[in-house]
Amino acid sequence: MIEIQGFDVHTASASEWARYHRYRRVRDEESHPGEPQLGDADFEHSARRPMPFHDAWRFIALDGGELAGNLMLWARRPGTPGSEEFAPHVDVWLGVLRAHRRRGIASRLLQPLLSFMREHGKTLATMNTHLPEGHAFLVATGAVLKHRVVENRMQVDSLDRDMLARWKAQATEGPARSGLRWEVHAGRTPMERLASLMAPFSALFNDIPLGALELPPARYQLEGYADWYGELDRSGGEHFLVLLVDADDELAAMCEAQWDARFPDRLHQRLTGVARAWRGQSLAKGVKAAMLECVRMRHPALQTVVTYNAEVNAPILAINRQLGFAVHRQQGCYQLDVEALAACVGRRDGRR
Ligand SMILES: CC(C)(COP(=O)(O)OP(=O)(O)OC[C@H]1O[C@@H](n2cnc3c(N)ncnc32)[C@H](O)[C@@H]1OP(=O)(O)O)[C@@H](O)C(=O)NCCC(=O)NCCS
Repeated sequence: MIEIQGFDVHTASASEWARYHRYRRVRDEESHPGEPQLGDADFEHSARRPMPFHDAWRFIALDGGELAGNLMLWARRPGTPGSEEFAPHVDVWLGVLRAHRRRGIASRLLQPLLSFMREHGKTLATMNTHLPEGHAFLVATGAVLKHRVVENRMQVDSLDRDMLARWKAQATEGPARSGLRWEVHAGRTPMERLASLMAPFSALFNDIPLGALELPPARYQLEGYADWYGELDRSGGEHFLVLLVDADDELAAMCEAQWDARFPDRLHQRLTGVARAWRGQSLAKGVKAAMLECVRMRHPALQTVVTYNAEVNAPILAINRQLGFAVHRQQGCYQLDVEALAACVGRRDGRR
């Protein structure tokens, strides 16, 4: 007896939320064993709060009355900057509890996905997985593997401090680099400064290889930072930003990271980028070394740094390897065309 329902985060009762939390705790532990999880209040806050550029939809699967699977969809809100380019796209997350797998629950959850895509004119769904069963399921739907991402982790205790000091010093040494200066923001960066960085950050981000993924170019937006800072204020988090700026005040290199007071032993490394004109001069090593120095001074309890890299991104992988990062998980990024999805749903309906 499998039943699919919408889950409305704004109207769900306390008992419906309690059931949802029981489910997501088991699901998260199955997929990410040993990883810290958000508390119930924080989870509900983050599910309910309006996002600046996206809307989200949730569905649940009940198996004999028990919550056994869920589907989440995110789409760019019409009217937000760049929404026309994102109009065909929907991001999808789908999971089923281990004890309920291979009974067609995920297949049933594809039905609301198909209805959503048709209703909203979406043609391409993007989905990730790091588990063998996730790959098998996605391949069976007709989704195409278009990109691979590695989650790398590094233990701070293993860092070679002399190497870091060398990397940082080298970044501004020698006549070619003498005009470069450091700009470091620990905790927050003033909004006026961030405003001038949105265009160069977007350009650097869009240089990251994305394999065969069909996606519109990313856009950094000040509103996104304002929203994120609101969340950091709420949870006691910090944004770290290390820049190298040239003599003309242009951005030569950047490195940014996020620290969360709820999980104080971790740092999430975000974008590291070097402007094209400055590549091949060890500036990436410099900004990464400066970042680690800055965060460790402010948070001596830091133990682990987490970062995501494209599997084909040889330069950043080589730098991270030298820093002591090792592969923690490998993720496949798939895209599923609405027609392939319709064919898959038709095939599976036919079998029931
Ligand atoms: C991927 C996942 C959602 C599948 O859930 P499920 O309810 O077991 O999937 P279904 O029963 O609907 O399977 C449909 C088809 O997918 C394929 N499939 C699913 N799991 C498989 C596995 N472990 N090995 C091989 N094929 C598999 C099969 O073709 C299956 O059809 P069949 O059972 O008739 O052979 C579940 O394993 C899961 O939650 N994994 C972790 C989260 C994840 O990786 N999600 C990825 C999508 S965003």
